[in-house]
Amino acid sequence: MSSTEGPKPLPFVANFAAGAIAGISEILTFYPLGVVKTRMQLETGKSGLGVVGTFKGIVKQEGVSRLYRGLVPPLLMEAPKRATKFAANDFWGNTYLKLTGESKMNQSLSVLTGCSAGATESFVVVPFELVKIRLQDKTSTYKGPMDVVKSIVKSDGLLGLYAGMESTFWRHLWWNGGYFGCIFQVRAMLPKPETPQATLMNNLISGTVGGCVGTMVNTPFDVVKSRIQSQPAVPGVVPKYNWTYPALLTIAREEGPAALYKGFVPKVLRLAPGGGVLLLVVEFTLTAFRKALGPPYV
Ligand SMILES: *[C@@H]1O[C@H](CO)[C@@H](O)[C@H](O)[C@H]1NC(C)=O
Ligand SMILES: *[C@@H]1O[C@H](CO)[C@@H](O)[C@H](O)[C@H]1NC(C)=O
Repeated sequence: MSSTEGPKPLPFVANFAAGAIAGISEILTFYPLGVVKTRMQLETGKSGLGVVGTFKGIVKQEGVSRLYRGLVPPLLMEAPKRATKFAANDFWGNTYLKLTGESKMNQSLSVLTGCSAGATESFVVVPFELVKIRLQDKTSTYKGPMDVVKSIVKSDGLLGLYAGMESTFWRHLWWNGGYFGCIFQVRAMLPKPETPQATLMNNLISGTVGGCVGTMVNTPFDVVKSRIQSQPAVPGVVPKYNWTYPALLTIAREEGPAALYKGFVPKVLRLAPGGGVLLLVVEFTLTAFRKALGPPYV
């Protein structure tokens, strides 16, 4: 390749790899908050321990290593989830543009695209989420991820790995709806960025606000999903938490409406620093790729 061709953007695989590496770094850093979240969501009592109490309790009663139990499924899920997200956004975005005859995205179309992509993504993540929740559960006696898979397949068949599909679908659909629903307005309200740093800052702020709104909207569905996925199937018995919307009512009735927000605090605590780690690692990795590939890549 001659340098007269001018600068070229990095190939898709480089961007994809940078995203996946960033995602994995974020998981490695903040995974314990995820364990705390699941524990709080599975707690059926009325007065929870709170984030710090739950964290301390795990360390004291079960040891520090329990804060990392169930780490493997989310790591394995990162690349396929990312690939699905890209492909689904592309597919649904183009489909809706064609259907409406619009030439570019507007807010309602991007909400619709986001919701559809979230719903598509949920199909990929369910088995990984299921195995993760089973390992994070306090009463879990599984030896590891493969032990969970084997025991589920043995008792319920391959389809058993899709337990919690319906609630995961709603969880992802509503998160994306909340996120894309507000990110447009937040961007418009921020001062116009003049430098790359300012653009980065604007993205971090709008991403965090969008993430908070997405989390506010989807936490009840996350609680239901954790409850559904933590209950092993018993033949002939209809599980206590079954369809998503009735399960929301069951939880609100038995534990009070606030119970639908169990785990909200650790979820939100993870957002801003998590977004920061993602941005930093993406930038760092892309810079490393540019150096390694050399000109003409920029
Ligand atoms: C976006 O485009 C769709 C399809 O043409 C239209 O129905 C909708 O009103 C537009 N929304 C906004 C916020 O402009
Ligand atoms: C709810 O329970 C019934 C009976 O066990 C079952 O057929 C149905 O698939 C369950 N729904 C979900 C979402 O698991």
